Amino acid sequence: MFKRRAITLFVVTLVACFASASSVSIVSAAEPSNEDAAVLKRGKLMFLQCRACHELAAGQPNKVGPNLHGMMKRPAAAVEGFVYTDVLRGAGLQWDKATLDRWIERPSALVPGTTMAFAGIANEADRRALITYLELATR
Ligand code: HEC
Repeated sequence: MFKRRAITLFVVTLVACFASASSVSIVSAAEPSNEDAAVLKRGKLMFLQCRACHELAAGQPNKVGPNLHGMMKRPAAAVEGFVYTDVLRGAGLQWDKATLDRWIERPSALVPGTTMAFAGIANEADRRALITYLELATR
């Protein structure tokens, strides 16, 4: 009886390990799973809405909006040579997943007065996919 319970526990733990390993595999695996690939593809599609105003790769110029290369974990309004609004500079934000999610949902709600002319993405899964893509593409 005890033995069976121990085995069940072991199997459950094993499954949990696999589940959590697969959710971080975008970062670690050379070949992402189909699910990860689908999320990235969706994120890349979402980025079409940002692309007119933002570059992601190092060395690319600022456009209407600043180049977003290296932005994760960085304070907001930190790209040299880009003229930000006072409200974004004074917002005291740092770009992590949670803050970015609120920004993408509705920039003008997070930072009233920002000049980023983008209404927002209402769908949570779309935002999550975009953030997953941005994390990878801005590294
Ligand atoms: C019409 C142009 C435009 C579009 C479209 C746009 N942005 Fe922006 N973005 C800006 C501008 C302008 C700023 C600077 C805003 C300010 O200074 O208040 C900005 C700022 C940002 C910042 C802050 C950067 C920093 O250095 O702190 C992020 C992050 C960002 N945008 C992400 C996005 C994403 C993601 C999308 C697509 C969902 C997007 N933007 C769409 C113009 C745009």
